[in-house]
Amino acid sequence: MSKLPIAVLISGGGSNLQALIDKVEDGTLDVDIKMVLSNRAGAYGLERAKKHSIPTCTLSHKDYSSREDFDGEMVRVLKDAGVEAIVMAGFMRIITPVFLSAFPGKIINIHPALLPSFAGAGGQVEASEYGVQISGCTVHFVDEKMDHGAIIIQAAVPAMPGEDVETLTERILQVEHRVLPQATKWLAEGRLSLEGRFVKLASANVVKAELNADFPCLINPPLEEGF
Ligand code: GRF
Repeated sequence: MSKLPIAVLISGGGSNLQALIDKVEDGTLDVDIKMVLSNRAGAYGLERAKKHSIPTCTLSHKDYSSREDFDGEMVRVLKDAGVEAIVMAGFMRIITPVFLSAFPGKIINIHPALLPSFAGAGGQVEASEYGVQISGCTVHFVDEKMDHGAIIIQAAVPAMPGEDVETLTERILQVEHRVLPQATKWLAEGRLSLEGRFVKLASANVVKAELNADFPCLINPPLEEGF
């Protein structure tokens, strides 16, 4: 079977991009990263892509008079590169129907919170300031509303007592690096289908709870004996 040609869209450091590259290079993730596109010229993720000989493109949204014009140019560049699916990995732009309709059902995004809580930029900060006991991350299909589309996978990350937002953000990021490549693999294998808001995963493995130091319990703080 031919590999799904994807583009990874970034705006910043690209650690999620790196996680995808690593999984491609170790043979776990069978996709062809045709292009890394950034809307910010200085994004470190562009350097990561270059180190792995992945073509890059920078398009500054500031050079376009409307979101639609910017999206139209992205579509042109990505289609020219043979891209069929999009992984948004820290891409800090809201897209329009111009972009959505070019890759129907083939655009996914990672968000560093348990949606629908704390949508938008700064989800970790808001969750931390709110005092949540459990935060996490979500990979979802992209639709016309921000951080809204059907949910593919979510991971719960407990907030530790007294933890500051930086360490919580970092621990969420570590989990992002696992769930985003996983969701991308499912997409590439054609195993995701939509029924309304519900994402069906074909041939799903039995859910396995991870119990280790990072995941003391999916209920946090853990329940005490007797409950
Ligand atoms: C991640 O937390 C992602 O979920 C959010 O922005 C951050 C990007 O990190 N949308 P990186 O650029 O992948 O390191």
